[in-house]
This record gives sequence, C-alpha cells and structure tokens, in this order.
Amino acid sequence: MTAPRHFLTLLDLGPEEHAALIRRALELKRLQRERRPHRLLEGRVLAMVFEKSSTRTRVSFEAGMAQMGGHAIFLSPRDTQLGRGEPVPDTARVLSRMADAIMIRTFEHEKIETFAAHATVPVINALTDRFHPCQLLADILTWVEHRGDIKGRTAAWIGDGNNMCHSWINATRVYDFRLRIAVPEGYDPDPDILAAAGDRVTLMRDPLEAARDADLVTTDVWASMGQEGEQARRSVAFRNYQVDERVMAAAKPDALFMHCLPAHRGEEVAACVIDGPQSVVWDEAENRLHAQKALLEFLILGSGAG
Ligand code: CP
Ligand code: NVA
Repeated sequence: MTAPRHFLTLLDLGPEEHAALIRRALELKRLQRERRPHRLLEGRVLAMVFEKSSTRTRVSFEAGMAQMGGHAIFLSPRDTQLGRGEPVPDTARVLSRMADAIMIRTFEHEKIETFAAHATVPVINALTDRFHPCQLLADILTWVEHRGDIKGRTAAWIGDGNNMCHSWINATRVYDFRLRIAVPEGYDPDPDILAAAGDRVTLMRDPLEAARDADLVTTDVWASMGQEGEQARRSVAFRNYQVDERVMAAAKPDALFMHCLPAHRGEEVAACVIDGPQSVVWDEAENRLHAQKALLEFLILGSGAG
C-alpha cells in the first residue's frame, strides 16, 4: 500500500502542486458561485477532530464536503475515546478504516505528526500550536484574486511569532515572496523555521519599518488558543504592535490587509483598518472553503490539482 499524502505544513506540497491547487480552487469557486454541481467526493467521508474551538475551519470543511457530495463527521474530545485517553496511533488506525481523510485541530504539532504516521488516509492540519497551513492556502488564494502572482512581492507580519507567523514564513519558501516580521522581543518565531526561509524573511522590532512599502500587511491575535492565561501580560508586550492607520500608511497605498480571524478590534488591529477599504478579511474567510475543497480533492482523489 502506498503511503498517503498528508498536509501537515505548507511544505508537504511542492510549489507546482501549490500553483495547481490555487488554480483549481478558483475553478471550484466559480462552479460553486454558478451553482454547477461538482459532486467529486460522492460517498467520501472526512473525519474532523477538533481539540480547540473553531468557526471558519469547521464550517468550511463541513460545507466543502457537502458541496462535493461527501460527508464530514465532527469529533470533539468531550465525546470521543481520544478525549478519554485512547492512544493517538490507535485512533488514527481506526478512523483510517472508516474515513477517506482526517482533519485535526490540536495543540502540540507532534500529536498530528504521530497521528499521520499511523494513519493510512491523508491527514490535514487544521491548526496546531506551530502551524496553520490551511489558512495560508486561503490567504494566497485571496491575494491571487485581488492582485495576481505573489512572487517577488513583500508582505509584513505585525505581532506574535505564532502558528500563523510560522505558516507565513513557510509560504515565502513555496510562493517565493519576501516577508518582514515585526515582533516584540520574547515573542520571536521559531529560529529554525525562520532560518530555513533564508533571506526572504527579515525579523525586526519596529512595525512601521516592517510595513514600509509592503504590498500586504497581516496580523493575528496577541494570545492564541491555549494562551488565555497570558492575555494580560501579552496585552502589555504587544501594545505598540497594533495594525492601525499609521502602519497602513507606511505600506503601499494599495496594500491589502489580511487577518485569519477571529479578530480583536482595538488590540492587534484598529477597527478602521479591518473594516476599511484595504481589508480583504471576508474574502479570506470565504476562501477557506474553496481552497480546502481543492485540497480535499487533491488528497483524496489525487487529482484535480494535477
Ligand atoms: N481562521 C480560523 O482558523 O478560524 P476558526 O478558528 O474559526 O476556525
Ligand atoms: N493564532 C491563532 C489563530 C486562530 C485561527 C490561534 O492559534 O488561536
């Protein structure tokens, strides 16, 4: 039996596969908009394991499977044996016997690696403490729709060196663009992930310097899921890292603003920015659906994005 393809980080697909996947997502978006049937996953099942909260990820995967004629099963630790200590490898083996793909949102990235090592169907990372690759597929799709190729462009990340930041760093390697990261001391991204991106990514402290002449400005919450207890300390550390009018004014006049959501207006982003004309956050949210449908097709059928 050949080993399944997994999507644990953006680097699990090569640049050409990514380009094909984005093209396919645009096609699937058109089909959906025109209400043309595309029941490509008829009879297929996606198992969705959520150990953290979600709105966009759950709805986009579930709606995507329904639109492609398949089915998605929502599983939470509250009502599965995984939540009562059934080993991860056993759960992976069992779900693989019944589902055609498994999607997981969890804490430790190592857990999803263990899961994938024992699964015999594709495993999709729907967010770990370390990466959120599905969000980046939607973000790149959004960029492509609004501005075309991202190759050679400059993005600015303002805020925490977190799972989203790590995925933006990986995206520079796949899609060949530059990234300037402004992060307060003590909240840097993982040095190995950063180093692997080479000179495409620059780490700095000043948000205005990072945003200068950027084509895209993006940020994320100051305290991620699992860090609720650090909220007060982080609010102090990040107080000068809000994407506001000054930051957007430093970027190119036609710079786009992105945020994976959920957002906290008045913390990492000013209301006038996220609700302003440069913001494409609702397109990003919708594009989770279309990008993941292309991903599901690619992983389950091994086609479409070929
Ligand atoms: N952006 C994102 O993953 O949103 P949810 O947490 O609502 O799934
Ligand atoms: N960094 C955030 C992203 C939420 C989609 C978190 O992990 O909570």
